[in-house]
Amino acid sequence: MGIGLGVASWLTLLVFCSALINQASGLVDDSFKGRRFICHYTTWSRTRQNDGAYTIEDIPGKLCSHVVYNFVAVHEKTFEITSMQPDFDIGENGFRRFAALKDKFPNLKLLVAIGGWGHGGEKFSKMTETRDRRKRFVASVVKFLHKYGFDGLEVVWLYPGNFERGGNITDKDNFYYLIRELQKTFTDTGRDWEVSVQVPADKSRLDVGYQIDALCEAADYIHVIGYDLRGWWNNFADVHSPMADRAHDEGNFVGLNVENGVNLWLQGGCPADKVVLGVPLFGRTYLLDTPEGNSVGSPTIGAGSAGEYTNEPGYLGYCEICAMLPNMTIRWDEKAQCPYAFNAVEWIGYEDERSLRAKIDWAVEKRLAGIYAFSLDLDDYRGHCGTPYPLTLVIHKYYEETRKHTLVTWP
Ligand SMILES: *[C@@H]1O[C@H](CO)[C@@H](O)[C@H](O)[C@H]1NC(C)=O
Ligand SMILES: *[C@@H]1O[C@H](CO)[C@@H](O)[C@H](O)[C@H]1NC(C)=O
Repeated sequence: MGIGLGVASWLTLLVFCSALINQASGLVDDSFKGRRFICHYTTWSRTRQNDGAYTIEDIPGKLCSHVVYNFVAVHEKTFEITSMQPDFDIGENGFRRFAALKDKFPNLKLLVAIGGWGHGGEKFSKMTETRDRRKRFVASVVKFLHKYGFDGLEVVWLYPGNFERGGNITDKDNFYYLIRELQKTFTDTGRDWEVSVQVPADKSRLDVGYQIDALCEAADYIHVIGYDLRGWWNNFADVHSPMADRAHDEGNFVGLNVENGVNLWLQGGCPADKVVLGVPLFGRTYLLDTPEGNSVGSPTIGAGSAGEYTNEPGYLGYCEICAMLPNMTIRWDEKAQCPYAFNAVEWIGYEDERSLRAKIDWAVEKRLAGIYAFSLDLDDYRGHCGTPYPLTLVIHKYYEETRKHTLVTWP
């Protein structure tokens, strides 16, 4: 044939070139800030035994755009931001050592997360109840950020309007006022500080606690928790960060998945370039009722065994899971786009390189602002199963792609 390239090859080349042009033309847009990859550091991982202890100095700052320090608290009497463990945060210079990461990684942004599951909702509820208390809180945050040189605050109130966790019907409005007041004060300081909020993906929680559009306008970023959507407490084996509904999802579980959760925020009026998808670097584990019933949705009788590092039944870091996989049967839930593994009655629903790529592809398609991962110390950070930080590296690549491209000047 004299043509050289077949029609199929020409088509491929054409598609490839137009993809390049599309990508490049998106990049000359000044408003494009590049993707974010927000990594989480947890103070409690420092006490693990043997080589498991994870320290601030272990943080791979070149892999992330941001690192978040978990957690600080709301003081129940003064309503100010306060340390949860002064012996570490201050006594062992946790805050200062964290801030010093900037010496090593000058482009890295550092955030501090306030709240979390153990903190509960009541202190947030009481603090946000009056304008005066919110003012005191906001002033204390400004002082904190100045003092330690962090770049912003992530509010992890789990969850406003939730009565079982000390909430009040008034939380929904008060939460919004808090974020708006934080934002305004941060802007007034003239610093480049940001306020982000970690938010759930289930509609029942959104209805009682979140003014979606107003909150999105007030906050710099919305971090949607795309994990812990299932667990041993549900009494059936499942992955906990499914992308979409499966045949066995019924009742409250219909729509309780990553795509739908993020879409609730987008459809509620949140611009995609403010939405960050949260992904887990850990699994949720179960004890099956019978070894034969090992498919997704099978009955379970409790939490799987605790791991040597994370030490909590029903929960394993990828650093623990990857070492068990050689002895397990691994399957893929196609609709969920997530792996699971089992051996006898032990069953694990988790996240791996492939499932992260599926989430990344979707985040790219939706033009989300970025990905956050929980947490660095749950990845295989020592490289016991191969290259260190296998999962973090997958997300780093997604982040790095746009970082390089922003430097490209198109003719
Ligand atoms: C809820 O908030 C209202 C208004 O601030 C307050 O009067 C009421 O006592 C609160 N309820 C609870 C259960 O804390
Ligand atoms: C796999 O199982 C075998 C036999 O029970 C055991 O000797 C081995 O240590 C296990 N390997 C891992 C990685 O758990």
